[in-house]
Amino acid sequence: MTPIPLRGNNPPWIKKIYTPAELLSLQSDFLPITEKSITALQQRLLRDNPGSYLKADGSIGILIDGQERLIALGNTNNAGLPNHGFDVSLELAEGILLERPDKRILFSTGGNTVESYDNSIIVVAKFVKSHLIFEGKIFDETNDSCPNQVTDSQLKGYSSAQVGRNPELIYEIMSNARKIIDKMGIQLPISVKLTPNMGGNDRGSGKSVDIWDAADAALSAGADAITNANTYAVIRYQFDSKTGKYVLRDGEKVPVHQYPNCGLGGAVIFDNTIANTKYLREKMVANGYGDKPIFFTGGISSPRDIAEAFMAGASLVQVGNYKYERLKFISEIDRSIHEYFSSLQLPGQQETKFLESHID
Ligand SMILES: Cc1cc2nc3c(=O)[nH]c(=O)nc-3n(C[C@H](O)[C@H](O)[C@H](O)COP(=O)(O)O)c2cc1C
Repeated sequence: MTPIPLRGNNPPWIKKIYTPAELLSLQSDFLPITEKSITALQQRLLRDNPGSYLKADGSIGILIDGQERLIALGNTNNAGLPNHGFDVSLELAEGILLERPDKRILFSTGGNTVESYDNSIIVVAKFVKSHLIFEGKIFDETNDSCPNQVTDSQLKGYSSAQVGRNPELIYEIMSNARKIIDKMGIQLPISVKLTPNMGGNDRGSGKSVDIWDAADAALSAGADAITNANTYAVIRYQFDSKTGKYVLRDGEKVPVHQYPNCGLGGAVIFDNTIANTKYLREKMVANGYGDKPIFFTGGISSPRDIAEAFMAGASLVQVGNYKYERLKFISEIDRSIHEYFSSLQLPGQQETKFLESHID
C-alpha cells in the first residue's frame, strides 16, 4: 500500500489531474464523474484549502510563497510494486517496533495465486510467532484489489484487482488465512482490502457485484476488519470535438481494467468512499458485524475529510495520494488532530489513528 519511497526503490509514477476535462477523460463504469460531482469536488477543495481559487479551466490554484501551485483533483498511479520484499520489510518492522513500542504496523500481503496469498500470510504469521513481544502490534491487510498483480489461472482468470469482485475467491483466501493463523496459535488480525470497482461489466459478462457481497464473504470467512477501498479503474476517453462528447479511443475495448496497472485515487474518489463506507457500516450492523472496524482509504485530503470518514463509520483512516501532494500532511495532522476533533464536537468518543507509512 502506498509505499513511502525507500532508498533504492523506483519512484512511483503518479499523474496529477488538475482539470475537469482531464478527469472526465478518465471516466469509468465504476466511478461516475458528472458535472455536478465535479462542482461539489471543486467546492470542497476550495473550502478546505484557505486562499485557493478557481481558475478559468476549472483547475484550483493556490499561492505558496508567491508562486502559483495547482491542487490536484485526483491522481492516477502506476507504482508497480516498488518494495524490497519481505526480508527488508520484516527487518524494518522489527527495528521500528523495538525502537517505538507505541507504534503499530499493518502489513499488506497478496499474491497472484491462491497459494501465494497463503504463503504471504505464512511469512507474516511466522514473524509474529518468532517475535511474540510484537503480538497485538502487527496487523495484516490482504490486498484483494491490487491493480499491479497479473491474472493467473489459479485465481480462476481473475487478477488481484478483480479478486475483490469475486466473493468465492475472497472467501477462500480469507478462510485459508484464518486457518493458518489459528494453527499457529497467534494473534494476527486481518483486514481485507476491497476494490471499489463493483458495478458495470465483469469481464464482459455484464454482471454487477455488490460491494457488500465482497465484504460479507471476507467477514464470514473470519476477517477482523474491512478496508474500503483501493483505487478506481480508469478508462481513457478522448474528446470528440465534432460531437462535443467523450468517446472511447478508436479500437479500444472496455475490460474491467483498461489499464491494469493504473488506478485513480485522490480527492475525486472521496465522496464515493464515504458513500460505500456508510453503506458497508449499515450492512455490517444489520448482519451482526457491527463490532468490526472499517479502515477508510480513498480521497482524504484534509482534516475535515478525516472527520467525515469517522462519522461515516470508519475506525481508522489511511492517506494515500495526498502524501505526495503535501508530504507533511500526516505529521501536521498528527499534531493538530485532537484539537481539531474536539472543536468539531463529534458525537461519541472518536479515536484517531494514523498509519504513517506502509510496509509492503
Ligand atoms: C503510489 C501509490 C502506490 C500504491 N500502492 C499500493 C499497494 O501496493 N497496495 C495497496 O493495497 N494499495 C496501494 N495503493 C492504493 C492506496 O493505498 C489507496 O488505497 C488508494 O490510493 C486510495 O486512497 P487515496 O485516494 O488516499 O490515495 C497505492 C497508491 C499510490 C498512490
